[in-house]
Amino acid sequence: MPFPNTSCKLQPDIRNTQRERERGMRSSFKKLEHVWQFWTKKFQTQNIPDPNSSAEYIIAHTLGKKTLFGVRPDTLLSKAQADQVKALCKIRLTRMPVQYILGEWDFQDLTLKMKAPVLIPRPETEELAELCCHTLSHLSSREEKVVLEIGPGSGAITLSLLRRFPELQAVAVDVSEEACELTRLNAHMTGTSDRLTVINGDIMASQVFEHLLTHKPFCLGVSNPPYVTTAEMALLQEEITCFEDHRALHGGEDGLEVVRGVLLRCSQLLKSGGHLWLEVGETHPPLVEKFTAAENTWRGFSSRLKYHKTVADLYGKPRFCHLITS
Ligand SMILES: C[S@@+](CC[C@H](N)C(=O)[O-])C[C@H]1O[C@@H](n2cnc3c(N)ncnc32)[C@H](O)[C@@H]1O
Repeated sequence: MPFPNTSCKLQPDIRNTQRERERGMRSSFKKLEHVWQFWTKKFQTQNIPDPNSSAEYIIAHTLGKKTLFGVRPDTLLSKAQADQVKALCKIRLTRMPVQYILGEWDFQDLTLKMKAPVLIPRPETEELAELCCHTLSHLSSREEKVVLEIGPGSGAITLSLLRRFPELQAVAVDVSEEACELTRLNAHMTGTSDRLTVINGDIMASQVFEHLLTHKPFCLGVSNPPYVTTAEMALLQEEITCFEDHRALHGGEDGLEVVRGVLLRCSQLLKSGGHLWLEVGETHPPLVEKFTAAENTWRGFSSRLKYHKTVADLYGKPRFCHLITS
């Protein structure tokens, strides 16, 4: 046999090819901790807010989870998974909020669909829903309970109430068609659509008012209306101003334009002894109190609503107004 043995020479080549293939297969998997670090760093360098949690939620979503809590850092992501993370993280680089990228978000124990530009529910609003729950649980079990929400957005507050109180009915009015569609979709997903009427329109429109009169009497009104003042609008993050509906945010010069409408309509539509819960900006509660106490005749407003109390949020800021109809 001639030396070097050519048939032998083939062997290392075959082994090398196999090794290469195995190495290639291994390198197409990426360790979760490396992917997480990579995207966190990328977000940091591009000044994306919440870089670490943005990367975490996107990776977790790709793995079919909500967070990476309890997931081993050395978990391997397949090429397809790493590619999906990359595609979603690239969208995050445009400043789109993670909730819109994932297409869903949790509110209390509900997972709701999210779609731009409908407002993403904020954590404080879970407190507002909790305050409403507390009020509803103290109402007589004999009376028929119908709730009115003005500005449901994704439907978060109303749907959480409908889920908690199986006998409850609700009517939700929103000026945004996208919000109404999302509320309906989320109602369908949470199995509450048979107890919910969604009306698309401005709370101040007379046709909306007439429609609401056919549902009277409401035992509870709730609203997290747009209350950001014109001056504050300029200070909001890009995530908010570029992706969320300004009609969901901007409450005019003093932030109370829609709030006044909510007060007017609730004073007309709530039953005697009915409750209204509002989420407002931290400077607003005394102004809401003043508005309801004054002998004002703004658009025929009657002071049937009595200011009961202000409740602070978890950060200690006065954010929630409780009013009761006489
Ligand atoms: C701050 S968002 C609240 C959304 C949701 N309730 C939440 O807490 O996540 C305010 C909502 O009020 C709606 N809205 C604004 N002006 C309105 C009006 N004049 N009549 C009815 N809905 C209005 C907006 O479209 C938006 O969906």
